[in-house]
Amino acid sequence: MYGVSVQAVRGRGYRLGQAISWLDPHSLQRLLAGQGHDFSLIHRETVDSTNTQLMVEALSGARHRTVLYADYQTAGRGRRGRSWEVSLGGGLTFSVLWRFEQSISQLSGLSLVAGIAIARALSQISPVPVRLKWPNDVLAGYRKLAGILVEAQGELAGSSFAVIGIGINERLPAQHRQEIDQAIIDFNDLGVKPDRTQLVFSILRELSMLMDVFERQGLTVALSEWPAWHAHEGRQVMIRTPDGGTHEGKVAGLDASGGLLLQLPDGTHRQFSVGEVSLRPRQES
Ligand code: BTN
Repeated sequence: MYGVSVQAVRGRGYRLGQAISWLDPHSLQRLLAGQGHDFSLIHRETVDSTNTQLMVEALSGARHRTVLYADYQTAGRGRRGRSWEVSLGGGLTFSVLWRFEQSISQLSGLSLVAGIAIARALSQISPVPVRLKWPNDVLAGYRKLAGILVEAQGELAGSSFAVIGIGINERLPAQHRQEIDQAIIDFNDLGVKPDRTQLVFSILRELSMLMDVFERQGLTVALSEWPAWHAHEGRQVMIRTPDGGTHEGKVAGLDASGGLLLQLPDGTHRQFSVGEVSLRPRQES
């Protein structure tokens, strides 16, 4: 249960194999309020998925900027139908509700904004460069340190909302590593012991600033910052589309909607939309 190791201590009982750093919700609220970032925090010990639960809260009227943080998820979800498994204390899992006056069609590129917010926050504590793999995997040393799952709902011509789910690897058990078909990394590999309260605060602060700009000006600012984070800019890559097709080419930046542009071998450019492709570099460095 919970995927944690427990050690027997002679004459004293049992203890966890690794000390767990818990989030302190009261300190987090204080830090956010102190800098004028208005979030409502829901703290749960165990949920199936913070995205699923925050979606339920959103549909029952939860306010804009509600954050649902869980110490443990029993059925965490990743992109493209994958699961996101974290042992107790092995990673951070939380979701943020953002309500928009704009329609859902205006939200493309939102996951890029979230990616930049997390990259900014993680780069403050990572000893190796943090980069983004399009659309929104957060890498440290070209291995995945954090993932984002954005789920949006709304009307085509009315208001909308998005649940932005964030998962960050702190200490992945060996068994989980074997099950994941991607190059991954955790804070333990990086020799970093993050203060969870500070880290969540730092992510929410960056998110708050970037989302305010996104609401007012759309993607322009995020797109200007994106190349500085982009792991594969100018590199030869292969894209696999959900229909099973594969496309090779050189990454040529993003278009105005946040789609990835590839220069194909015949010199033409082709755009791939958010959520429709997976990116696999031919060689990782
Ligand atoms: C990915 O596949 O890269 C996205 C992973 C997103 C995982 C987070 S953990 C918190 C939130 N709740 C979920 O069920 N998923 C997201």
